[in-house]
Amino acid sequence: MLATHDGFSQPVLSRASLRVRVDVRGDPQVPAQRTFDLVIAANRLPVDAVTGADGKITWRRSPGGLVTAMESVMHGREGAWVGWAGEPGKAPRAFTQNSMHLRPVRLDQDDVVDYYEGQSNDCLWPIYHDAIVPAKFRRRWRTAYERVNTRFAEQVAKVAAPGATVWVHDYQLQLVPALLRKLRSDVRIGWFNHIPFPPVELFMQMPGREGILEGLLGADFLGFQRKPDAANFLRACRGLLDVTVRGDVVHLPDGRSVRASAVPISVDYNGLRELAGDPAVQQRAAEIREQLGDPKHILLGVDRLDYTKGLRHRLKAYGELLQSGDLDPSETVFVQVATPSRERLAAYRELRGQVELEVGRINGEHSPIGSTALTYLHRSFPRTEMVALFAAADVLIVTPLRDGMNLVAKEYVACHADDGAIVLSEFTGAADELSRAYLCNPHDIDKLKQTILQAMHDPPGEHRRRMRSMRRTVMTNDVQHWAEDFLTNLQAAPHKPKGHR
Ligand code: ADP
Ligand code: G6P
Repeated sequence: MLATHDGFSQPVLSRASLRVRVDVRGDPQVPAQRTFDLVIAANRLPVDAVTGADGKITWRRSPGGLVTAMESVMHGREGAWVGWAGEPGKAPRAFTQNSMHLRPVRLDQDDVVDYYEGQSNDCLWPIYHDAIVPAKFRRRWRTAYERVNTRFAEQVAKVAAPGATVWVHDYQLQLVPALLRKLRSDVRIGWFNHIPFPPVELFMQMPGREGILEGLLGADFLGFQRKPDAANFLRACRGLLDVTVRGDVVHLPDGRSVRASAVPISVDYNGLRELAGDPAVQQRAAEIREQLGDPKHILLGVDRLDYTKGLRHRLKAYGELLQSGDLDPSETVFVQVATPSRERLAAYRELRGQVELEVGRINGEHSPIGSTALTYLHRSFPRTEMVALFAAADVLIVTPLRDGMNLVAKEYVACHADDGAIVLSEFTGAADELSRAYLCNPHDIDKLKQTILQAMHDPPGEHRRRMRSMRRTVMTNDVQHWAEDFLTNLQAAPHKPKGHR
């Protein structure tokens, strides 16, 4: 049984696709006209509204690494967060969660279809992830993207105090910096891209590509996960706009200049260590091991069910290792947590079908009676349960074909003292920093299989050396360090409100 958000237990393989419920408070004390010195703008709020049949709203934690990171950063800081509450139609009224003031932005059904599912996730997402699936281009989607970005900019303009710092996030809101600057030239605007920025050859395919660059150049500072991402952006500016690029700075014809540089995101190292050291979580990790049949090796994958994550490659490698007898299903168990994601999009539905077929095939062919070679969990879990899973796993398998960072890899490092191992795709941002992981090219299935076996069978001393080195990296460069670094860069950027020369 795995514990759920409300403390009840449910079978490890329950079919319910639940998301973790959280408590929020409506706060009539916060007047609509209140403004804030720090404003976050992201497509999603940190919580999603779910309206029940009785019209009552419950709140669930939003999926993805952006929310994980920014929730830790905003913990204990006062500020406003402008974002969508996850359901089409009228936006719920503003409320507070911890010290954060949450301002829902309305998305109508056609905004969800054209701006969120269409332009953001069927066009930009694939283009920014090496076109692993083909990107689609629709004029209607671009119009919706402009419309919704304008709505976000207007909401931010209302909630930002004079001279406020505004931190815009991710590919869904690339036009917000320039739109906001037009409305409020007094505020300082930073933008951070949680996903890769594509090579110019791919970026150029996009109709309206110049508009995106101009939108971003409304910011005072632009942050990217890796140096090559910032370099791709700078190259696109040089090639497609009438600007001068010197080093990492774009000089605009109006005299403004904008720096674009790498500020790799990270995890709440101390919070995770504390949770992993909690006796209740350790007990839970031991229980998970026992429930899985006390195998010699537990392999773990934790991903949104997204085609960028290389789930099929990983399952292929695991299936072949069982088939060849290199892995014995009575000794090894693979647990794959696959969070539901963007389920209305065809590419995601197709992937889910393929993954679930493969899970069924592997279990059908290899599971011993009374246990499973592959435990597949298609739902969200509370933080404590995730940490217990990380702690229980001997090897984490992370095989994205392209990933801006991959926080899961860093979370695993924070949850392990001296043991454990990570098989990590070279195509993740995390691979730059976690160079002592067992690095792999997920396209090369034979090498991936060898790497998995090596990670499983290397002696404890080798695991210890690798994990210690990675731990030092994550401890020094944690999520607070990332936020400070970003905000320091933003404060240092030359800022010219309108009328100043
Ligand atoms: P992405 O942002 O693309 O989803 P990341 O690896 O950067 O990928 O971040 C994913 C975040 O979501 C991590 O904090 C991870 O622990 C969390 N997460 C992933 N799957 C689940 C799940 N099923 N339940 C709860 N949290 C999850
Ligand atoms: C990634 C993106 C985020 C996004 C998250 C979940 O982490 O970088 O911007 O919020 O995935 O995706 P979703 O489409 O459900 O918001």
